[in-house]
Amino acid sequence: MKVPFELEWMGGAPEHHFRAARPGTDDLPWGTLDPSRYAPAAVEFARGSWTEVAMNEYRAVASFSEVLRALVDVKAPLDLLGMTSDFLADECSHVELASRMAMELGGAAPRTIDFDRFTTKGRGATALQRANDLVLRVACIAEAFSGGTASVSLAATTHPLPRAIYESILRDEARHRRVGGRYFEWAFSKIDDAERARLGAILLQGLRGLAPFWKGPAARADTPRPWPEDELHALGWLGPARFGTVAKEVVVRDILDPLSTIGIAISESDRAELLG
Ligand SMILES: [Fe+2]
Ligand SMILES: [Fe+2]
Repeated sequence: MKVPFELEWMGGAPEHHFRAARPGTDDLPWGTLDPSRYAPAAVEFARGSWTEVAMNEYRAVASFSEVLRALVDVKAPLDLLGMTSDFLADECSHVELASRMAMELGGAAPRTIDFDRFTTKGRGATALQRANDLVLRVACIAEAFSGGTASVSLAATTHPLPRAIYESILRDEARHRRVGGRYFEWAFSKIDDAERARLGAILLQGLRGLAPFWKGPAARADTPRPWPEDELHALGWLGPARFGTVAKEVVVRDILDPLSTIGIAISESDRAELLG
């Protein structure tokens, strides 16, 4: 069932503890962005996009919870469990940053989410297979994709507030992506050829889900846009056509290439079809 995406804040002890765990949020240059100085279409696009970042970060809280549980079940090294646990608070902090950014632009855009389909459960017959599946999809695909594309968005962002938000998020995301490499380093000797082939199929399926970013109608460079591109940049966003190009580059450089070095790969023909 779809419900509106809404967040609550409690204050008091929970806020105090969370602020102590992730300090600095209130030091960002909040209140310095005047939306009336930008084209309404650019503000609308940015509001919607920052709202969707908040939703994706909320999904990351759920996803890393599943990853953590899968790592416990597969008896992964304790320090890897501790590192992954720490990411949950990071993702909560990212939800806060992105949602406050949407508020600065006039309020969150109305969006619905379906909690029945929200989290990604580990797929596989064994604890090892379920951990492999989740680490691949969450750390090696989703986190690598969002971190890789966000660093290009940061480079184009001119206003200090969205810049500070991206910088804060990306500092954490760099660590989140690394959990994939560390996990597979540990799991490598336990994974046979059949499992590697299964993971290749999961990889292909995951990347096909991203392909609309560069293949979909919105990615076409000749689509007329209602906003000046530099105003989107100011507010933290690349236009959809440029984003599509970046998305494809990130998929190759940050996902396909590193995974192929550990034998998780898709066929040449699938690769050509995916990127074509
Ligand atoms: Fe995040
Ligand atoms: Fe993350």
